[in-house]
Amino acid sequence: MDQIAEVKQKTDIVDIISGYVDLKKSGRNYKGLCPFHSEKTPSFMVSQELQLYKCFGCGEGGDVFTFLEKIEGYDFSHALEVLADRAGIKLVKSAPAKDTSKEKLIYEINELTALFYHKVLTATKAGKPALAYLRDKRKLTLDTIKVFQLGYSPDTWDTLLKFLTKKGYKATDLEAAGVIVTKSSGTGYIDKFRGRVMFPFSDVSGRIVGFSGRTISDRKPKYLNSPETLVFHKSNFLYGLDKGKIAIKQEGAVFVEGPMDVISAYQAGIKNVVASSGTSLTEDQLRLISRYTKNITFCFDSDFAGISAIKRAISLAEKQHFDIKVAMVPEKYKDLDELVHEDTELAKQLFANAVVIYDFFLVAALKRHQKTDPLGKKNIVEELLPVFSQITSPIVRDHYVEKLSQELNVKADIIRSLLTNRAQVADYEEFKEAPHTSTSDKAVFSKSSYEEYFLALLLQSNVDIIRSFLYKHHQEDFANVAVRETLAALKTYLHNAETYNVEAFIDTMNVDFKNFVRDVYLWDVGSISENSQNIVKELTLLSSRIEKKAARDKITALAKKLKLAEAENNVEAIKKLSEGIKELSEKLL
Ligand code: GTP
Ligand code: MN
Repeated sequence: MDQIAEVKQKTDIVDIISGYVDLKKSGRNYKGLCPFHSEKTPSFMVSQELQLYKCFGCGEGGDVFTFLEKIEGYDFSHALEVLADRAGIKLVKSAPAKDTSKEKLIYEINELTALFYHKVLTATKAGKPALAYLRDKRKLTLDTIKVFQLGYSPDTWDTLLKFLTKKGYKATDLEAAGVIVTKSSGTGYIDKFRGRVMFPFSDVSGRIVGFSGRTISDRKPKYLNSPETLVFHKSNFLYGLDKGKIAIKQEGAVFVEGPMDVISAYQAGIKNVVASSGTSLTEDQLRLISRYTKNITFCFDSDFAGISAIKRAISLAEKQHFDIKVAMVPEKYKDLDELVHEDTELAKQLFANAVVIYDFFLVAALKRHQKTDPLGKKNIVEELLPVFSQITSPIVRDHYVEKLSQELNVKADIIRSLLTNRAQVADYEEFKEAPHTSTSDKAVFSKSSYEEYFLALLLQSNVDIIRSFLYKHHQEDFANVAVRETLAALKTYLHNAETYNVEAFIDTMNVDFKNFVRDVYLWDVGSISENSQNIVKELTLLSSRIEKKAARDKITALAKKLKLAEAENNVEAIKKLSEGIKELSEKLL
């Protein structure tokens, strides 16, 4: 057995998580308040049998290693060390250590690179124009330059390459760190960044993971970023978080456009500011921030591209239960950077007076269209529906429905019903976009159909109950493909196995559906699963609902055909279809 497996075997996830979360037994599983998002009713589930956890509120889930990585910010090898220590296992350094030493090497190269560029900027003749640019044009103090370890990459082909090679680093490792690139013609390497002001990217623990370089001579691209490396993943990085995290914990986080905005704000004493490096906000970045706060403010430049640009960010943030506000840089200023330099007080006020994002969009829509005009009303509603339909809290959603209804003098119920339709469309689109049904945690469960509930109960019951319900339904009674697949696999499994063991069963499943089944198994069915009689009662009820739903769906399909047949006056078809509908209708009684 390898050591990771040994550590896992000697560790109980329930034990570990109990150190952070107050867990209560609920059926076969345990539940508690999720430590990764704020909630009032528990949706965080832990399974002792599967040694997995899963939050049905925010989607966070994994094994004991993931848990420690997420909650403590450990990397995998550190989580392994901690758990091994706890279990009294001595780790022998072996193969997997190789990867971590590669990462260490990259950090080391990045560290040296940052130092080198910083030195070039602050202490060499080559750095003079860049230093003048930062101090005069960008109004940065030497202190700020030091705090952010800004640098300058000389405008030469291979100064960094030579410097690091002399220190004994191999070109292939420098390339892996992303600081040099292969020449586009011929062979050999050149420095990646040339003639640029350098912004080192440090992660939360202060290690340098990559760089961004801004040209000082109007070359394209304006900003050049490190490629993805073993230690740099742009979707999981936020510039400024290492310096801002304490302020962010106290005041919430402000998202701005780029590193320059972060630095200027910081210099002016506004420290709760971060930037995603030129990409739109990702789920991982939000998760990262949620360790510190659930309050975020988007700071938009006055040339803000509109709703569609951040619709996805809003929806991601809503799903993780953030409170989202917006602050708009006044038109007079190009961006936050400029505003901070011209009027620091105004910049501070801007964030203090940030408005709830939905009010922001409401005001913007009312400005753009004439609300007294019927077509204007329609446009306003159409613009706002996609935004309001993202709101996860029914209370907040209703507040905006009422508000919009009053503004437009349109009945709230009309807006409400449009919103419901819209939410269904959005739900479906998200479902289609999701890579597999299995991995899209929320997509599957937001439908919270009784099909999944049926499966959850079944899987958490015992082999006799499973057998008695498994053969009651036709495959096509189930609309959800994953449920269908799981039931089919369960039949096969029980055909060959003597007893029912959920882990062994999951092992037999197609890889695409494994996570789906794990999630379903972690579903909180509460105390029902402790009493077989109750399970049977509940399953019987669900079983009949599923049957009825299937019948209703079939009737709808037949009714559509019937309409066509009637249009064609196809007597035979009409008769057949009507009979089919009648037969199915009897099932519904
Ligand atoms: P300055 O001109 O230095 O003040 O930068 P800015 O932050 O005002 O730049 P801008 O508004 O043009 O762009 C906003 C952010 O997008 C920047 O901070 C960068 O992070 C990113 N960005 C801008 N241009 C480029 C580019 O050419 N390539 C990449 N990868 N990112 C860019
Ligand atoms: Mn700028």
